[in-house]
Amino acid sequence: DIPVLTIDGPSGSGKGTLAQRMAMHLGWHYLDSGAIYRVLAQAALKHQLPLDDAEALAQLAAHLDVEFVLRDQQLQVWLEGEEVSLKIRSEQAGNAASKVAALPAVRQALLQRQRDFRQAPGLVTDGRDMGTVVFPDANFKVFLTASAEVRAERRYKQLKEKGIESNLSDLIAEISERDQRDTERSVAPLKAANDALLLDSTLLEIDAVFSAVCDFVR
Ligand code: CDP
Repeated sequence: DIPVLTIDGPSGSGKGTLAQRMAMHLGWHYLDSGAIYRVLAQAALKHQLPLDDAEALAQLAAHLDVEFVLRDQQLQVWLEGEEVSLKIRSEQAGNAASKVAALPAVRQALLQRQRDFRQAPGLVTDGRDMGTVVFPDANFKVFLTASAEVRAERRYKQLKEKGIESNLSDLIAEISERDQRDTERSVAPLKAANDALLLDSTLLEIDAVFSAVCDFVR
């Protein structure tokens, strides 16, 4: 069986950075599941579909023309032949993503597409429901959290590095709103799998988190 390491957690916990580093370290494939929801929301805007039209969005999800290319340690994302890597990273895109992600039919439509990323020699994946719903039989599961303030600060820095200006108090509000929607939704709510390693990165640097997870998968 092809091994899987799942890393779930709320926005800004550092799971994306950790997952990419682990994928490099292990030489495994990488799936950024949140990018799929972000691209779907982007496609909905492009085709002027309301973000609560479950049926239309599930159709769109089933036929979504998306491609991921990992180049120079950067994940490039293409939607219908257009590069949308930067566009999908704004907080508005994240918020729109969490709205479409709350629809059960949308999640169902994307299930197999995500499982198809499980290819030899292994897969590292990050999201909200990787260890609970998409890969319940994963070999290694991590749940990474941090306080909302610390996560907003990290997101602020990360956006700044990408040349995207934001406002810290807006970010704290947006992150809290998204946390609430992600934990309270009826399907695949954000929560740790029973067999996940719980890590709190509020006071831990990414290097310390990385080495803890390296020990865990050894
Ligand atoms: O980077 P950040 O954690 O802020 O967001 P993301 O992982 O790109 O996910 C964006 C949104 O997609 C989240 O707020 C979730 O609502 C949704 N999502 C999900 O429902 N399930 C996943 N496996 C991944 C993301």
